[in-house]
Amino acid sequence: MKDNNSSNSNPRHIAIIMDGNGRWAEKKFMPRIMGHRAGVKTVRKVVEYCVKEKIEVLSLFAFSSENWRRPKKEVNMLMELFMGTLQTQVDKLDKNNIKLRIIGDKSAFSEKLQQKIDQAEKQTENNDGLTLVIAANYGGRWDITQAFQKITEKIAAGELTVHDITESVISQHLTTFELPEPDLFIRSGGEQRISNFLLWQLAYTEFYFTDILWPEFDQVLLATAINSFKNRQRRFGHTGEQIINFSQSKPK
Ligand code: IPE
Ligand code: IPE
Ligand code: MG
Repeated sequence: MKDNNSSNSNPRHIAIIMDGNGRWAEKKFMPRIMGHRAGVKTVRKVVEYCVKEKIEVLSLFAFSSENWRRPKKEVNMLMELFMGTLQTQVDKLDKNNIKLRIIGDKSAFSEKLQQKIDQAEKQTENNDGLTLVIAANYGGRWDITQAFQKITEKIAAGELTVHDITESVISQHLTTFELPEPDLFIRSGGEQRISNFLLWQLAYTEFYFTDILWPEFDQVLLATAINSFKNRQRRFGHTGEQIINFSQSKPK
């Protein structure tokens, strides 16, 4: 139901857990990797839509720090798919003024893949259209841990004191530094959990879950999720009445 005064504009940052590739393939009696391949097609459509709608940031969970627990064959194929996609898509992303950023523990990837990632990020770093964040070997707890490591190193070096540590300093040391926090979180595939995605960053994000499997997700469903977001009243701890008063006193 639409709240009295809940007319959000487009989300600045959309974060998506693209889940359900394996089940989509299994339903069709195909190997799971076919589901992942079909999932890449959905990524292209979603990116296109975000460019068209002038969304600032799109973050996609591609491979979690826990996904190494999968059968070796699936992990290897996912790595190949990731590398192949990076190779074939980076020029297209660049032409569309998209800035690519890969977050996650890249040290676990092969040298070759790490080089490809660095090249792709460099090639697109001056673009100022959509920022496309791909979370690969990413875990929200890992992100917070590496932020703590960087901060404690700075304390040890005398660059920071314990009293300097604020929420904003912690945010600046996460892999998502300089990005706005996600406004809208979407998870396809029917599960209603975060699976160690952007734990710190999702503190005030609006959640949208759909049973649709990722290869079947499309622009219409994305528009539906965005519409649902637009019809919510974000209170950030205030009362609903305060929010209405704030928006009425805002110059139009
Ligand atoms: C999401 O799809 C993609 C990755 C985790 C790489 P899944 O592979 O988790 O698909 P389901 O959940 O098994 O259907
Ligand atoms: C989350 O999906 C990770 C990605 C989509 C990359 P999973 O399918 O791995 O999550 P769980 O294991 O069901 O929580
Ligand atoms: Mg899954």
